[in-house]
Amino acid sequence: MEEKKTKQKYALVTGGSRGIGRAVCIQLAKDLDYNLLINYNGNKEAARQTLKEVEALGAKGEIIQFDVTNSDAVNKAFDVWHETNKDAIIEVIINNAGITKDGLFMWMKPEDWHSVINTSLNGFYNVTNALIQKLLVNKYGRIINMVSVSGLKGTPGQVNYSAAKGAVIGATKALAQEVAKRNITVNAVAPGFIKSDMTAELDEKELKKMIPANRFGEAEEVAHVVSFLASPKASYITGEVININGGIYS
Ligand SMILES: NC(=O)c1ccc[n+]([C@@H]2O[C@H](COP(=O)([O-])OP(=O)(O)OC[C@H]3O[C@@H](n4cnc5c(N)ncnc54)[C@H](OP(=O)(O)O)[C@@H]3O)[C@@H](O)[C@H]2O)c1
Repeated sequence: MEEKKTKQKYALVTGGSRGIGRAVCIQLAKDLDYNLLINYNGNKEAARQTLKEVEALGAKGEIIQFDVTNSDAVNKAFDVWHETNKDAIIEVIINNAGITKDGLFMWMKPEDWHSVINTSLNGFYNVTNALIQKLLVNKYGRIINMVSVSGLKGTPGQVNYSAAKGAVIGATKALAQEVAKRNITVNAVAPGFIKSDMTAELDEKELKKMIPANRFGEAEEVAHVVSFLASPKASYITGEVININGGIYS
């Protein structure tokens, strides 16, 4: 009798080359039975390093380059990938890629507004929309969007970033209701101040005064939440925003 082929299952992490995205790849490799698809934009070496760390844990993975802001590039990358991975399904999508271009709104240049919105909000659309039909056919999936405390309470000097992350929170809640019947959950994780390249220039000594836990968080602490939401254990949680910010009221 012909053996039934089981599909290779993948978890995609956009911006998996550095920071929180890298920590998420490593945590997923430790906790769950997925191959990792590690996306990067410009830092191929950093993405390779993430892959090395994932493989050291015994998991399989590969790196994939695309700019989440460029829908043609995203679609092309997935077309090529699906062509060479016919028996594979991307079952977990972690929309993590994000940038900041901070400054007071009255001086904000159009390019600083658009690039931040394009990365977080349009990046969510470009990646998730390209994969959602296959996920619906699969009748199981996990979508996790990396947002921010800024998208909930708003942060002065980050009107662009707060708008982008707030919009992704709205999209998370709406899409969750559209796809829940197909066993696909859609949630958002909202970190506060986490140590990474993004926050490297910030004055932790000064800023930690307004964080009840009195410190910045570690990328690994965020990765644990993501890993739980990506697991079958989180099957009845959808449309939620999980704060991870050391007690900042949001
Ligand atoms: N750190 C914090 O305190 C904090 C707090 C709240 C929310 N967040 C959110 O958490 C996420 C990760 O932040 P992080 O602190 O880890 O940032 P990070 O250290 O600056 O890393 C950013 C990651 O995003 C990728 N990326 C940026 N633009 C991209 C694009 N157009 N296409 C594909 N990948 C792109 C980068 O890829 P390359 O390496 O190729 O450039 C990199 O892997 C972001 O969405 C951020 O907004 C962070």
